[in-house]
Amino acid sequence: MSIPASAAAATLPAPSRDFSADFPGLRLPDGGRWHYLDTAATAMKPQAVIDATVRAMGADYATVHRGVYARSAEMTLAYEAARRRVASFIGGEEHEIVFTRGATEAINLVAQSWGRGQLRPGDRVLLSQLEHHSNIVPWQLIQRETGIAIDVCPLTRDGCIDLDAAEAMLTPAHKLVAFAHVSNVLGSVLDVRRAVHMAHRVGAKLLLDGCQAVPRMAVDVAALGCDFYVFSAHKLYGPTGIGALWARSELLAGMPPWQGGGAMIDRVTFAKTTFAPPPARFEAGTPAIIEAIGLASAIDYVENIGVSRIAAHEAVLVRTLRDELRRRNDVTLHGPEDASGIVSFTLEGVHPHDLGTILDEDRVAIRAGHHCAQPLMDYLGVTATARASFGVYSDDSDISALLRGIERTRRIFG
Ligand SMILES: Cc1ncc(COP(=O)(O)O)c(C=O)c1O
Repeated sequence: MSIPASAAAATLPAPSRDFSADFPGLRLPDGGRWHYLDTAATAMKPQAVIDATVRAMGADYATVHRGVYARSAEMTLAYEAARRRVASFIGGEEHEIVFTRGATEAINLVAQSWGRGQLRPGDRVLLSQLEHHSNIVPWQLIQRETGIAIDVCPLTRDGCIDLDAAEAMLTPAHKLVAFAHVSNVLGSVLDVRRAVHMAHRVGAKLLLDGCQAVPRMAVDVAALGCDFYVFSAHKLYGPTGIGALWARSELLAGMPPWQGGGAMIDRVTFAKTTFAPPPARFEAGTPAIIEAIGLASAIDYVENIGVSRIAAHEAVLVRTLRDELRRRNDVTLHGPEDASGIVSFTLEGVHPHDLGTILDEDRVAIRAGHHCAQPLMDYLGVTATARASFGVYSDDSDISALLRGIERTRRIFG
């Protein structure tokens, strides 16, 4: 199958070479290609990232921030260079980047540190119907302790966060708005400028869950004007076990530690302990050194290609797949036409798990289930969807394989 000319007429050129060759995870033992369409869950890793982590774990390995020997000093420089790399990638300042285990931990950090310190009974937090559980449950946990109320913004018909509704819901009692920048189920993209304006107008902070945005669009937190931004490295072609919280420096400065241990202190006595300034205050214990270096390498990989080129490439694939699925009268498509990198759908009379299992026999990997977004499933009136999500290595052969697999599933189910 070739990509239709209309779909190919994207505003930016698609990647100029076959990037799949950079990803050993896409090659099956018999030399065939794995049609991996689950990048929104976790992205495959390019060889450059694998090599960087192997070097960091092997020839370059040492601890950071503690050693008086040269190797440790060099590793400390590399670890802090990774922080600068993240900062420059998303438009923040180096001292505003806190390394976390991932987006989930970053949101929990904000909830437990900022939330516990700032939220009082009667305060409100606005979430949306499409949030990942990572941006729901941390707020429910803090709700138990602080007595805040949680409001849920509905969606538009095509599955975007309904900012008209949000505007009507927001009051001065709202202290935080926490929205996904891009939905992990529907691919819908938030109008961040408007969300920032609305949140700030009532005095609320805006937290953006950038897990699905960072791998597929240029992000500049300073230009966006948000207050907190979180993402996970493993969705950005980097390692698992690391992610980042960006927060305005004045917010971080006022936030108490949420975990105690080594590296986050200034002076410890049994009478009193004082804490290091941010970001160290929020990084208790030996950090994810190898993973931080892997993340910096992933950012290098993505920036060498250009995030905008990746976005353009994925936009073509999304349009192609949506157009192909729309031709079938047994498929319901979820999400907006201009979804970012992600296509969710249901095949009439076939549970997404059955579809996913049959596709697996055809070497096609999709995600089937609730995608850690059960409130969204309830809203859509389904228990699960099938989700195909793209990355820089995806191409029209993946779409062809998926379509053939859907056709085979249809025949099996009659
Ligand atoms: C939108 C969104 N938010 C949060 C998360 C949680 O990320 P992690 O499990 O890497 O912490 C995910 C992962 O699927 C996601 O897609």
